[in-house]
Amino acid sequence: MPIMLKVNGQSRPLSLDTRTTLLDALREHLHLTGTKKGCDHGQCGACTVLVNGRRINSCLSLAIMHDGDEITTIEGLGTPDKLHPMQAAFVKHDGYQCGYCTPGQICSAVAVLEEIARGVPSHVQEDLTAAPRATNLEMRERMSGNICRCGAYSNIAEAMAEVAGVAG
Ligand code: FES
Ligand code: FES
Repeated sequence: MPIMLKVNGQSRPLSLDTRTTLLDALREHLHLTGTKKGCDHGQCGACTVLVNGRRINSCLSLAIMHDGDEITTIEGLGTPDKLHPMQAAFVKHDGYQCGYCTPGQICSAVAVLEEIARGVPSHVQEDLTAAPRATNLEMRERMSGNICRCGAYSNIAEAMAEVAGVAG
């Protein structure tokens, strides 16, 4: 089936088997291998990308569901010469070890701060009617779908705190 994905600002026409996941379309067909396949079952978050500004697990979504959608992968967030602030903060705070989970962590972290800014409540928020704040607990809860086998969680939280402007 022919579809058109807008990936990192570029229109990318594809002809795909309708069973192809968005993750496989990005990695195997567009050769954007920054997005990682960890579990392929929606359990690890390594495949997180932004679709129309919202984060999703790309392994759980069929590519044909995204005809015309704007997709941002780690390759589209920043460049080596001009890193996205979240990428720069991950480097500064050593928010990774092996790096396999990192593209998904960074895409998710960017989305988390936008969710907090939009006032989307979370499971750990005491007052659901109050505006959420970018506390350490909030960020850890909202990032809980992104697993890091290397255990870089503390440094990831520090990187997010810096970008959120709440670094102590
Ligand atoms: Fe998609 Fe693990 S590869 S959640
Ligand atoms: Fe290795 Fe997260 S940095 S899995």
